[in-house]
Amino acid sequence: MNMTPATLFGADKTSPCVRQVYGVSGSGKTVFLNHMLREASKDRSFGPMWRAVVFDVKHSGYEDLVKKPTTNHMETIRNMKKHKITVVHPDIEEAQSSLDAIINHMFGLAQSVEDFTGVLIIEESSTYIRSTVGGIPASIKRFATQGRSLGLSLLLVNQRSLSNRWTDSQSNSLTMFRQPIPDADALKKKWGINGEEMNAKLAEKPFSFAHFDLESLNISYYNPIELPPPTLKPVDGSEKKKEAKVPKGPDLYKWLQKMT
Ligand SMILES: Nc1ncnc2c1ncn2[C@@H]1O[C@H](COP(=O)(O)OP(=O)(O)O)[C@@H](O)[C@H]1O
Ligand SMILES: [Mg+2]
Repeated sequence: MNMTPATLFGADKTSPCVRQVYGVSGSGKTVFLNHMLREASKDRSFGPMWRAVVFDVKHSGYEDLVKKPTTNHMETIRNMKKHKITVVHPDIEEAQSSLDAIINHMFGLAQSVEDFTGVLIIEESSTYIRSTVGGIPASIKRFATQGRSLGLSLLLVNQRSLSNRWTDSQSNSLTMFRQPIPDADALKKKWGINGEEMNAKLAEKPFSFAHFDLESLNISYYNPIELPPPTLKPVDGSEKKKEAKVPKGPDLYKWLQKMT
């Protein structure tokens, strides 16, 4: 099975709305999600009323997807009106209330705008969700339970797999990058995944990942996202356009041949 933006972000009214992404710091989660968001924004199957919001308390790794990350609720609402992707850089002290307001807004859109679908990606989700049953904010609980029938999905991104049992029960898939060693046991107990074997396999290729579908209980391994080569820009900020040179004489013939 291919890993497509639809597998990861697509709203599916028939299966739970939470998708979890975990792996140690630096294992490639953000690069992967950034790439998938870029692909999704070009994918017509998502429809014109699809919206993605990245709630990024780290303020790092998604800013190239937008003109400017938003920092307050008004900016977020305004950006969502116009653009498919919104990257929110919340103030850490107001992060929870800001998240609540965004969830409210997404619900409002889903209930009032025809064909609206959306995904909310919460980076460092353990900032908001504790492992106890009571340790989950009401807004996230509401999103996880009612979001599915409204065409919304929720991606929880975290370094550890020690998430909340309640969110686990609302999950549809796990996308796993290199895991912290102590989590192998928890993976086995919770999902029946052999964490040590998975880690050994993921260690063969840096930034590779595994996708565990919680409906079929199938685990698939994926090659790392290929990053485009860095573009070298002149340091003074100027950019010269290269003029296409059209060859003449015998070279023209060679050139034409190459084009066909
Ligand atoms: N697929 C990849 N190919 C090459 N380098 C990668 C890839 N994914 C991540 N990296 C490198 O590793 C760094 C950390 O990745 P990142 O996605 O930020 O990790 P995480 O979000 O899991 O902490 C990136 O800045 C990049 O240099
Ligand atoms: Mg990251």
